[in-house]
Order: sequence, then C-alpha cells, then structure tokens
Amino acid sequence: MAKRRVAILISGRGSNMTALIEAAKAADYPAEIVLVLSNIADAGGLAKAQQSGIKTATIESKPFGKDREAFERAMHDILVAHDVELVCLAGFLRLLTPWFVKQWEGKMINIHPALLPSYRGLHTHERALTDGVKIHGATVHFVVPEVDSGPIIMQGAVAVRGDDTPDTLAARVLGVEHRIYPDALRLVAGGKIRIDGPVCKTDACGSPDDALISPEII
Ligand code: GRF
Repeated sequence: MAKRRVAILISGRGSNMTALIEAAKAADYPAEIVLVLSNIADAGGLAKAQQSGIKTATIESKPFGKDREAFERAMHDILVAHDVELVCLAGFLRLLTPWFVKQWEGKMINIHPALLPSYRGLHTHERALTDGVKIHGATVHFVVPEVDSGPIIMQGAVAVRGDDTPDTLAARVLGVEHRIYPDALRLVAGGKIRIDGPVCKTDACGSPDDALISPEII
C-alpha cells in the first residue's frame, strides 16, 4: 500500500516532529513526511527537518495580522501543492479557524500535553500539580473547531511523583509524547482508526491488565 503523504506543522523546537520523522524512516511505516511547515521563520525544528532531508517551508503568520483565514489559505495552498493527505500539528502555536479545520476534517491530528478532556489549554503540567493528580500524560486527537477537543486516538500516562516540578513532569510527559505520536500516526495512516461521532474506534488496545497505579505501595 502506498504511504500516506504527511505534513507536520510546527512553531518551535520540533521534538515531536523529530519523533515522527524518525518513525517514518521504517520501511513498514504507513506514512511519509513530505513537508514541514512553520509559521515562525527561525523555529528550531526547521533546521532539524532539513538535516533529515525533509522539505521545509515557512509562511509567517505575523504579516497577516488578524486575517487568520488569509494566512490559512496560504498554508492550505502549499499543503495541496504537495499532495498532502494528512496533517500533524506538533507544537503549532496558532489557533485555527473553522474554515481550515473543515478543509482537513478527519485528516488533521494534534498532540496535547495532558490527558484530555482534562487540562485543555496552556500550562497543563502546572495545573496538574496544583490539583495534585497522581496520573498525568498526553493525548493525540483529531482536530475539531474547539481547541484541544476532538476524537481521541491515543493517550499515554505517567505517574506523578511527590517531588515533581512542572519541568520534571513536562520532561517525562514529553518522553511519552514521542512514543504515542508516531504510534497514533501509524494507526491513522494505516487506516486502523474509524471516527464514530465524537470518538475513535479501533481494534488496537492496551493489554487489559496494564494498570498504571500511582502512588504504588512498595
Ligand atoms: C508539546 O508539548 C506538545 O504536546 C504541545 O507543544 C509541545 C511541542 O513541543 N502541543 P515540540 O516542539 O514537539 O518539542
């Protein structure tokens, strides 16, 4: 089966982008990364993508000011010009209009550093620590007009430690992000995910006794 053509949208360092690029090198991976697109000219991820031989493009959002749709039309045109079939948001720091989301409905996925639907929005790790939750994590989901919502494809969790700071917690969650984003894209690109209204259905599942308990009594 032909590999699905994927673009990754970034604004920053691109560590999730790198995880996707690395995963896509496997011969049996059902997607190929054909473009990395940034809205920030000096995003660190651009150089990393180029080092991996991936084509990059920048469309700066700033000059478009408040005309978000004009910016998105420029992005959409370049995605179409590259025959992109799936879009991965990876630290892309722009809110998307319903128009753009509609163009890529069921074909655009995002990673969020929390176990949705908890902690939509920013500062997820600080908020999780303030609330004293004992399990935290990350979510890959399809993009819908509402921010940090949409059918959940995959989640990964970590145990929160008593001495965690936002930074230490963020680092462990990021490690999980780098595992689940490539796996989630593998499922989506491989046609293993069916969107059923607000949820994703798949035959893939975690092992039934794979409980994460935190804190664990030892
Ligand atoms: C990640 O924490 C991701 O969950 C969030 O933005 C951050 C991007 O980091 N959406 P990176 O650019 O992938 O390193």
